[in-house]
Amino acid sequence: MPHLAGRFQTLPEYPLAQIPQKKRDLIARGVDVIDLGAGDADLAPPPKVLEALTEAANTPAMSRYGFGLGHVPFREAISAFMAKRFGLRIDPIKEIVPLIGSKEGISHLALAYLEPGGIAIIPEPGYNAYQGGALLASGEPYRYALRPRTDFLVDLDEIPEDTLRRTRILYLNYPNNPTAAIAPREYLERVVARCREFDILLVYDNAYSEMAFDGYVPPSIFEIEGAKDVAIEFHSLSKTYNMTGWRCGWAVASPEISSVLTKVKSFTDTGQFMAVQAAGVAALESHAEWVPGNLATFKARRDAAVDAFRAAGFACEVPQATMYLWIALPDGVPSALFADRLLDEEGVVVMAGSGFGAGGEGFFRISFIVSPERIAEAARRAGRVLASMEVGVA
Ligand SMILES: Cc1ncc(COP(=O)(O)O)c(C=O)c1O
Repeated sequence: MPHLAGRFQTLPEYPLAQIPQKKRDLIARGVDVIDLGAGDADLAPPPKVLEALTEAANTPAMSRYGFGLGHVPFREAISAFMAKRFGLRIDPIKEIVPLIGSKEGISHLALAYLEPGGIAIIPEPGYNAYQGGALLASGEPYRYALRPRTDFLVDLDEIPEDTLRRTRILYLNYPNNPTAAIAPREYLERVVARCREFDILLVYDNAYSEMAFDGYVPPSIFEIEGAKDVAIEFHSLSKTYNMTGWRCGWAVASPEISSVLTKVKSFTDTGQFMAVQAAGVAALESHAEWVPGNLATFKARRDAAVDAFRAAGFACEVPQATMYLWIALPDGVPSALFADRLLDEEGVVVMAGSGFGAGGEGFFRISFIVSPERIAEAARRAGRVLASMEVGVA
């Protein structure tokens, strides 16, 4: 058997890896499966995006390599979006890195900043690309448990100073997957100051910047003074425009930090299909007319989810952003066992909190990816499983 590298063996099982097969098996047995697992909605992208893709796909030049530069109008549309949405002046060529989905950029970036002995602060629960990138780059993860105690924020003052001195990357994601927490501006100011003090790269994952409700408007990290010296921010078309499968996102950073990611990528890929980037232009240009209606759909699902899960006996906050509900389980009910039983006995897919790292224990996540009626039905089924497990606990 060829030998595996030690760093590969440090990778845990990816939490969503087994679910598609399990789901297929249940459906084959005639079970009415309700999938609230991945953040992958059942909704269509804007019609103009589909038109733009068709037209671009019929243009032969679009089928050639995009290379790092890619389709320049996509860079220009990103720059215009960053200006309109966050009031930022971002150079389309030097300060933007087009990505094949933001996950790709997030995980590849670690290769440039981590090595044995270098620490990456990884919030847990958190998006698995952070630890994946860090472990594949032979970095040392410092896992920080996101709990209600700190409003699901990473409090850098709780991390020992000698650890901060060896820290190369801090991953932050607000609005947060899976907890749906948001970060106050003063918190971001403190984080930027600490990262500047310790020369830590702040990887700010803003995949949910456009998915907010009730008047909340998530900021860009670059609205915080001094962030340009230490931060890189990741954006995605996936959630905002129901384009998860299209694999299209971007990073924004100073020319120095952008060029680091661009260099890594020049050895790992040759650019996203330029027709997809052309469709990305149409997506960004449709923001004002299309995004509010899409958000209204998600808000209706959020409201239905909160009502239905509370009625079924669960405790949860009303999230101001993201497409997730982070639901507490009673003490003594293990999240993985609850999720397994919910799938096996009731055909409902949810994500166990522990699948996002040990800090996620005691919770599970649902995604607003099906209709309010289906979410309500899933909540009733979850309530039945909870009731049977509470009997076991008591
Ligand atoms: C926090 C977070 N960041 C990044 C991503 C990845 O998005 P993309 O589809 O752009 O790779 C996700 C997807 O679920 C996410 O939840």
